[in-house]
Amino acid sequence: MASVSNPFKIGKLYSAKDFIDRWKEYESLCSAIESGNNAVVVAPRRFGKTWLLQKFMAESGYPAVYVDLFGLFSLRGFVQKVVKQVYELLKEESPMVFVGKYLKNFARYVKFSVDLGSVSFALDGDVSDDILIEQMYELLEGAQKAVGRRLVVILDEFQAYGAISERLPESLRSFFQTRSDVLFVFSGSMRHMIEELFFEASGVLYHSCLRIDMTSMLPENECVEYILRKFEETDKNISLESARKVYELTKGHPYFLQLLCYELWNKTESSSGIEQVEEVFDYLCDREAYGYDMIIETLDYKYLRNVLKLISEQDGDYFSAENLEKYKLPSAGALNKLLKRLTQHGILEKQGRGKYQIIDPLFERYVVRRLD
Ligand SMILES: Nc1ncnc2c1ncn2[C@@H]1O[C@H](COP(=O)(O)OP(=O)(O)O)[C@@H](O)[C@H]1O
Ligand SMILES: [Mg+2]
Repeated sequence: MASVSNPFKIGKLYSAKDFIDRWKEYESLCSAIESGNNAVVVAPRRFGKTWLLQKFMAESGYPAVYVDLFGLFSLRGFVQKVVKQVYELLKEESPMVFVGKYLKNFARYVKFSVDLGSVSFALDGDVSDDILIEQMYELLEGAQKAVGRRLVVILDEFQAYGAISERLPESLRSFFQTRSDVLFVFSGSMRHMIEELFFEASGVLYHSCLRIDMTSMLPENECVEYILRKFEETDKNISLESARKVYELTKGHPYFLQLLCYELWNKTESSSGIEQVEEVFDYLCDREAYGYDMIIETLDYKYLRNVLKLISEQDGDYFSAENLEKYKLPSAGALNKLLKRLTQHGILEKQGRGKYQIIDPLFERYVVRRLD
């Protein structure tokens, strides 16, 4: 019998069949582009930004160029990626033709190689930053003309731009002013950085993009339905109660929902009960504990544990005298300061007035089980 593979999906590769909800965000993104605006998608890590952007690439019908800035550490590396992506988009008959057409003034700096049918481009080490930037924009303009309609450039993990060039936002800003048929979509998980850059009056990219917030978890009914379906399709069973438990434990956090289901599916012979869900969740929590220990050590804030404990155990009303005393917090001011810092670090997310949540449900479990 052929073995069935695990139906749950973790990783950067978007899977249309596994995409739950996010209709509102997807529509906002499409209508931003439709109306000729740039957009920025803001969400915590692992909330599905990359999946949303890839869905846009795959399904919106717009010609698009996607570059993930994470792990890039030079302007040259960045421009190389842009060149490669534009090449893939335009599907010119050969890299030679492509360079001749779109990188004319730049051709002497460009080398390409073909390996197993995949083309990679390398730019000469001596080329100056000014020329790199200028050529990149020229390339984008050329590509836009070639596709004959709006071209969308997606820059994922944009908070990492500093490693590429501190001047990138500024140069983008001037580019926006000259071109309206090349639009940009940014995404970023470091909220305070993205806020500063795009939404504060002093930010270089202030007023340049429509904001798309993706801060909610996935909805319960759709998640439960998805879990039941995926088990059923692979001839394993999960009770409705267990599927609901998965949701309750992960709260509908996209990544942790997939992760818990993935492990649960692996550990399930034919049917999965509710105790097993808890067991697997705890197993995952133990597996991550080392990383969580590191977070706590690295942050090294006085009262950190107290605040995490408070947030994980109480449902609001954090500032009451009773809670301050119970969690040995010296003052409301100290608590407030820590809440802000932990939010900046992407550990907490504000859930409306005076209410916070630990974003990572496994970390919350760790706090409840391991800290005291
Ligand atoms: N809409 C969704 N429906 C189901 N699972 C999702 C969805 N969005 C994201 N995921 C899951 O979460 C993981 C992380 O998503 P990703 O897009 O990489 O997050 P981000 O870019 O915000 O860090 C994905 O690998 C996938 O397992
Ligand atoms: Mg991502």
